[in-house]
Amino acid sequence: MILSQPDESGIRRAAEFIRSGGLVSFPTETVYGLGADSMNPMAVARIFEVKGRPFFDPLIVHVSNIGMASGLVDGFPDKARLLAERFWPGPLTIVLPKSGIVPDIVTAGLPTVAIRIPDHRVALDLIDFSGVPIAAPSANPFGYLSPTKAEHVMVQLGGRIDMILDGGACRVGVESTVLKIQGDSVTLLRPGGLEMEEIMDLIGPVESGAGPDVESPGQLPYHYSPDSPVRIVEAIDEEDLEIKNAGFLFFKKPCFPYPPESAEILSDDGDLLVAASRLFSCLHRLDKSGKKIILAEAVPEKGLGLAIMDRLIKASKKVRNETE
Ligand code: TXA
Ligand code: MG
Repeated sequence: MILSQPDESGIRRAAEFIRSGGLVSFPTETVYGLGADSMNPMAVARIFEVKGRPFFDPLIVHVSNIGMASGLVDGFPDKARLLAERFWPGPLTIVLPKSGIVPDIVTAGLPTVAIRIPDHRVALDLIDFSGVPIAAPSANPFGYLSPTKAEHVMVQLGGRIDMILDGGACRVGVESTVLKIQGDSVTLLRPGGLEMEEIMDLIGPVESGAGPDVESPGQLPYHYSPDSPVRIVEAIDEEDLEIKNAGFLFFKKPCFPYPPESAEILSDDGDLLVAASRLFSCLHRLDKSGKKIILAEAVPEKGLGLAIMDRLIKASKKVRNETE
């Protein structure tokens, strides 16, 4: 496995791996992706194998421009075009009816394909140097926390993939917002790095995708989970610090003394942008210390708070057996 700086020669080397059916982890503005040539079903199959991801969970295809996206879909409805022109490159994934060239393994047999243009120079260069759209889920074992640093990928998947491009910490820190667009109707499949308020300002109301039929496996009730169980509380107070072998995820800096070795603060002054960017790395650190439980403070469910709460709720719902 090669760990490389994301300079031109590093990215060209990574593009060689992509072109020859290999797997490369690369930084995006949201989280690190695990990329393969989306037009090569064997390479895409390796993504599922390495992640332990069920084949019913489709992948996002990453492109570097809207023209490249158009080749993968069967028509681009007006609302999709408006969104793409305003928010791409950026943390928005659009699910549209797919064209015949997208292999079924990428879309898990669905008639739709998820597409986004990441807002990261390294990701865009990698796509351009490879010359193909890159299928990439987040670079973590299925169900575990997403990686926001190269070292997270290294620990979780290193040795099983060909190369990691180290682009430092991801700016946004939570995965993209996923919207499904059918004609004029828009459905939210996963809250994420692009705020719903911004989306609705542009195109009006968006239906909530939550419901009994799981349209997007990212909506499975558990996901994004550390090994330690997570419990969400309105506020962590001083008495909670007595709980034995617990880790604490504060939203804001508490006004009482706390044990720094078992606490993480998402944002000193409660800034949701900062909190989102630190969420997964704080959870990674708490999880590494093998706590029996992680107490996580709820955050306001507006702006990026929606995505943060979605990830915390999913982490707290992981099914565990008694012996764990
Ligand atoms: O920010 C991100 O989106 C990152 C970076 C690497 O781009 N990628 C990411 O991929 O989070 P992944 O595979 O971890 O999550 C993709 C989500 C899943 O919830 C998947 O079920 C959904 O997108 N998805 C993909 N294709 C879909 C489709 N055709 N219909 C409905 N949902 C789809
Ligand atoms: Mg993921």
